[in-house]
Formats: sequence, structure tokens, C-alpha cells
Amino acid sequence: MGRRLCPVEALKEVHVSTTEVGRHERLAEVVPDVLAAIHEVLERHRVTEDEWYAVLRFLTEVGRADEFILLSDVTRTSVLIDAMSHGADDAATASDVEGPLYREDPPWREAPVKVYEDYEGMGDGEVLFVRGTVTSTDGAPLRDAVVDIWQTGPSGGYDVWDERQPDFNFRGRFGVDESGAYEFQTMLPKPYTVPTDGPVGRYLEAVGQHPWRPAHIHFKVTAEGHAPLVTQVFFPDDPYLENDTIGAVKAALVRPLERHDGAERGLDAPFVTCDFDIRLRPLAAQG
Ligand code: BEZ
Ligand code: FE
Repeated sequence: MGRRLCPVEALKEVHVSTTEVGRHERLAEVVPDVLAAIHEVLERHRVTEDEWYAVLRFLTEVGRADEFILLSDVTRTSVLIDAMSHGADDAATASDVEGPLYREDPPWREAPVKVYEDYEGMGDGEVLFVRGTVTSTDGAPLRDAVVDIWQTGPSGGYDVWDERQPDFNFRGRFGVDESGAYEFQTMLPKPYTVPTDGPVGRYLEAVGQHPWRPAHIHFKVTAEGHAPLVTQVFFPDDPYLENDTIGAVKAALVRPLERHDGAERGLDAPFVTCDFDIRLRPLAAQG
């Protein structure tokens, strides 16, 4: 999982950051507006004391269950922050929400990169090769780029949810070649539901929002002198492309799949390929 702080540690971090003058000014600027907006909604809806305490109990549970990132995602707040943070920069590959399922220190995988081990329950999943080049926005190959991917397997779950899978299955970091090219072997993921067994699951049910995400692969890509990119790749014809529960699908990130005969790669079953070229923005060009 990504870096998680317990509430006490998080408060300490806020305290440290608020002692820095710039951050303090920012809080002084934003917090009164947040409070005014909350107060206005409470007044407009005549929220009762019981209802307000129910809200506080819910938020306490969200924190205890470590589900604040998930809550931010399903309320489409993460998508809003991503859009404001990375803006529309057509020269670079579009960014996307990271989500709560990233795990630090995934295994380094050498070429030919394969990001999974076979496991009981993978069923008749299709082998997928994802390939492309990592370049700067001017097209120059970025030979020191590192690609880090994570995804669900064909059985629909992440390694952390699926006991049948080896640890760090369908996760990995790897480099690119002299021309910036990368390729990895994986399996075509399937749509899955975000976790529904905690307080955020109850919230989704209460507001009548389904928990499904379209199939996707997450990417984090870094290279010297360039802004790191966090993004996701989606595939055509997925039933949830138009109604991802976190609203994170961007048309430019829906990449076609091409079907191949297994014999082309010495495989005993047909396989699919997906081309995904990645362009990173030079740091100097950041607005
Ligand atoms: C994910 O894509 O891994 C994800 C995103 C938001 C909430 C839960 C999972
Ligand atoms: Fe995901």
C-alpha cells in the first residue's frame, strides 16, 4: 500500500508544515472558506445534532479503516485535484489518479519483463504485452526512465486482496532500453469493485453509487529532469468506461488492444498487445 500515516502522525505532519510560514498562510487562506462552505450546507439542510454526530462517527470510522484516500476517490475529489494539479498539457501524457492500492518498493524486474507468476485461480486470462517508448515532450528518448506498474490479475483482485496470488504479483518496476523502449508481459485485467467492506462501502450503498472500476493498469514513470507521471491505461469496450466509480477515465488513456496468434511469440494460446507511448514534461517547462 502507499504511505499511510496514523491520525496522530498525520496531525504531527500538519503541525510541522503549519509552522512553515508559506504553509501557514495557505491554511489561513483556505480553511475559513472550507468552514464557511460546510456551515452554509449544514444551515441550508437544517442538519440535526444527531445527523452531525453520525457524520463525525462516520469520518472517525473512515480514518480507523484507513479509507480517506478511497473516500476522496469515490467522491471524485481525487479527479478534481488531479485535473487542477496537472492541467491540460497536450504535449505530455495525461496524468490520472493514483488510488490507494500502490505499494512502495515493488520488485525490480529485468528484461524480458514479466510482472506475474502463474497462480491457481488465474483461469483462462489472456496474456497481454504492453509496449511503448518513454520520451521527453520533444521526442528525445529518456534512457534512464523507470516504469512502475500495478494492476489486478484476471481473477479481478489485487495481490493484497487475493490470497492465491504471490506477494507483489502484477506489480513491478523496470527500465527502458537505449531508445527509451519498454515492454512487459502481463495479463489483461478485468473490471473490479473498489473495497466495499468498510465505511466507504456503506457510503456508496447509501448514496446509490456502484463500486465498479473499468479494467486498467496503473503507471508511475520517472526520469531525470522530468516531472514524474502517475497515470492509468484503460481498454476499449469496457462496460465501466463511461461510469467509472471514481470518474478517472480520460479518452486519451483508452488504448486499443490488438489480438495475435500465439505462435507469433511461441505461446500456446492467442495473446493481445497494447501500445502506450509515454511523454514526460521537462521540469524547466513546468508552468
Ligand atoms: C484503483 O484503481 O486501484 C482504485 C482507485 C480508487 C479506489 C480504489 C481503487
Ligand atoms: Fe486500480
